[in-house]
Amino acid sequence: MNSLPANNSEWLIKKIIMEGGTISFYDYMNLVLNDPDNGYYGSGKANLGFKGDFVTSPSMSNDFAFLLTKQIEEWLIQIKSKLIFDEKLSVLEFGAGDGSLMSSLIDHIMIKNKKISKNVRFIIIEPNKGMIKKQQKKLEKYLKLGFDILWKSLDELEYKSLNGVILANEVLDALPVERIINLKGKIHRQGVSYDIDSRRLFFEEILITKELEKSIAFAQENLNIKIPPKNAPEGWTTEWHIDNRKWLKAVYEKINNGILLVIDYAKEAKRYYSLSNNNGTLISYKNQKIVENFFESPGNCDLTSHVCIETLIYDSETLGFETIGIVKQGEALLSLGLAERLFEIQKELKNDISKAFSRREALLRLVDPICLGDFKWFVFSKFKNKKTKINTICIR
Ligand SMILES: C[S@@+](CC[C@H](N)C(=O)[O-])C[C@H]1O[C@@H](n2cnc3c(N)ncnc32)[C@H](O)[C@@H]1O
Repeated sequence: MNSLPANNSEWLIKKIIMEGGTISFYDYMNLVLNDPDNGYYGSGKANLGFKGDFVTSPSMSNDFAFLLTKQIEEWLIQIKSKLIFDEKLSVLEFGAGDGSLMSSLIDHIMIKNKKISKNVRFIIIEPNKGMIKKQQKKLEKYLKLGFDILWKSLDELEYKSLNGVILANEVLDALPVERIINLKGKIHRQGVSYDIDSRRLFFEEILITKELEKSIAFAQENLNIKIPPKNAPEGWTTEWHIDNRKWLKAVYEKINNGILLVIDYAKEAKRYYSLSNNNGTLISYKNQKIVENFFESPGNCDLTSHVCIETLIYDSETLGFETIGIVKQGEALLSLGLAERLFEIQKELKNDISKAFSRREALLRLVDPICLGDFKWFVFSKFKNKKTKINTICIR
């Protein structure tokens, strides 16, 4: 029995007991992240940035949004030129965290640059009420200025209603995943059980669903992936992103003409489903540290996994997206002018060395390959006219 201690988890234990003593790992991840009262994001406990539990690019530095805005404006201008009617352009952000990225994007697009500010609306799709509150607080001043900022659910958007740019920075890594384990050469699904006597949460094998079986078989047939890999030892484990395709499909259906930019931790299939990666990529963070034990403090830490590069591209393309390209964040930001930005900061803050130093530090972390620089930017497009070509600065 793979048992681990359960701390501060009465709320979760009640839910597991109500479900008969075992829930799937997928349900576990969904609860600890998205439960409206106790989940890390659901309740709004999530604390991003240097002073929080972990950093994301926008929570670390406004310069990230400054550089990204160059790309977004370029795309919006090109998309506008392809439209037949004067439709409103959208900048839509999935999972906007504490609102840092959206706030800086609005600032640059609507106030500082104004290159394409006319007829632009901003939309956030955020399922977690606790996070929506944080975002509304951060965007209060722009709401007061009357800018068109809406919080919507994906279902509320009409079919093919979006013309513009859709962003998802570190969102797919927060979608619940199934955990699978190799036992006697066969894949089993992992669940999370609670033992009343020892008061412990532990992993337990549960029935594999038809949906999960089909999803893995689909990838194996079409992508030359072998799960478990040849000669995998007993207990080899990985995770499966059962929701990515559904998410991509739902997004695809809402776009009329647009670019989807997904930014995330990502691994190639051959490294993901390899003998050496024998415990998947799931990782939990609290106070800028890795929490080794997923069951230690459910609902009080982030829980995240890498996406698989090939599966994401395959799903996108078979749904109808065109892949414009994939690039490492470090390279994308350099193409968007990171070096010039560093120079500007030095000049601008020549009398405030400590501020200049921390801005420089944050910018360098965005491109550092052992930090956020290794993130992948996936650029997909969907245009009514399939022959439409879009120039993209971030991919050289
Ligand atoms: C790791 S945080 C990233 C926050 C922000 N994008 C950033 O980079 O700072 C994940 C965000 O995705 C949100 N989220 C979780 N599931 C989601 C879903 N199905 N659709 C949209 N957002 C989701 C979370 O509530 C949270 O705001």
